[in-house]
Amino acid sequence: MSKEWSASSWRDYRALQQPDWPDKDSLDETCQAISTYPPLVFAGEVRTLKERLAQVSAGNAFLMQGGDCAESFNAFNAVEIRDKLKILLQMSVILTYGLSKPVVKVGRIAGQFAKPRSSPMETQNGVSLPSFRGDAVNDPSFSESARAPNPRRLERVYFQSAATLNLLRAFTSGGYADLHRVNTWNQDFVANSPQGQRYARIARQLTDTLKFIDVIGINSVNASVLREVEYYTSHEALILEYEEALTRMDSITGDYYDCSAHLLWIGERTRQLDGAHVEFLRGVKNPLGVKLGPKTTVDEILGLCDILNPDNEPGRLVLISRFGYEKIGEAYPPLVRAIKKEGKSVVWSCDPMHGNTYSAPSGLKTRSFENILKETKQFFAIHQAEGTVGGGIHLELTGDNVTECVGGSYNLREEQLAERYETTCDPRLNAAQSLDMAFQIAEWLRGGGANSPLSQLD
Ligand code: PEP
Ligand code: CO
Repeated sequence: MSKEWSASSWRDYRALQQPDWPDKDSLDETCQAISTYPPLVFAGEVRTLKERLAQVSAGNAFLMQGGDCAESFNAFNAVEIRDKLKILLQMSVILTYGLSKPVVKVGRIAGQFAKPRSSPMETQNGVSLPSFRGDAVNDPSFSESARAPNPRRLERVYFQSAATLNLLRAFTSGGYADLHRVNTWNQDFVANSPQGQRYARIARQLTDTLKFIDVIGINSVNASVLREVEYYTSHEALILEYEEALTRMDSITGDYYDCSAHLLWIGERTRQLDGAHVEFLRGVKNPLGVKLGPKTTVDEILGLCDILNPDNEPGRLVLISRFGYEKIGEAYPPLVRAIKKEGKSVVWSCDPMHGNTYSAPSGLKTRSFENILKETKQFFAIHQAEGTVGGGIHLELTGDNVTECVGGSYNLREEQLAERYETTCDPRLNAAQSLDMAFQIAEWLRGGGANSPLSQLD
């Protein structure tokens, strides 16, 4: 790594998983234009998120990161945005209630448009075309023109992210996320499920508590914590020209922030120590995530800490494990031990989605709820055994009633996947499966039994 960092120093390094843009001038022009647009987030918010994550690393808060695998230009409307917020708010209520800890809420939203792919080309009926790399790059439909990478799409990413963030900010500070509305976040189609009913019981308890504290003088008018919610955005920092264009110097501190989102992460396929993604992200002050798969070595993980968090700052680095339920037991503990031994400060978070994807007989990509849960439980068990903090969870989910992952509440079967399979990339947990996950995590972490606040509800 060179000593001198600048927002463009990554250009001297190798960037994997980049589109083969046919028109480089158009890419430069588009990113030049974006670099003059207002930032999407403010450095002060990013610093607050870092403080919240420092609390997670100390075991005093829980990180809940979730959203689409890939956002889409087509599914862009108020209802989609509201329902994604709703499900995260509901899960946070369950986790806060069950764990008696604040939940740091981070969406995979307002910028999650670019995807790494295992193969650069896709072949259908003997025809090979560039793989779909997310709406930031090309269109999912299978034709030559649709699949040609088009840098003009990055501008649309910027404006869709801005509009999404605008509505999220309105919802989270304008009354929609007020705790007094906790019972209205339950969606009609989950309200009658066992999870929906359990959630409704928590909502009733909270409403009673709110009535009580109102009597003693604490209400939404005088206590902003009841009225407003802190909600942060995140995405994979994959297309570095776009990230560079939104990187700005903070006038207060003189530090650089990537103002495309509060938290950026580096994917499993682009985290090379000598690669362009690590070079770019080492120089911005945002909290950073790094995905870790089963081949990660101790040297790599320590190298990542040294480069991305040289000052060992709490809340800076979130290591996101995505091993798969069959591999986590063997591959993960040595990494946890090494980080503990070296005294590195990290947030450990579990992505139980990306190591557990398989193709159903129909050819549709899916994941089993049971395997997702198995990996999650092993993750927390490993941290308990090592005396370290399993700090959070990273999920692909949606507030809709989709049929993309099998198992869970309604025991969704592989034959049913086609009924409502809407993701443009990886399969997501639906609303009921997401609530189920939140209950299972909260219960498991509290050890269940009579001591669990959740079991006292039943
Ligand atoms: C993702 O989070 O959508 C992703 C591609 O993850 P990973 O880099 O862990 O495969
Ligand atoms: Co994914």
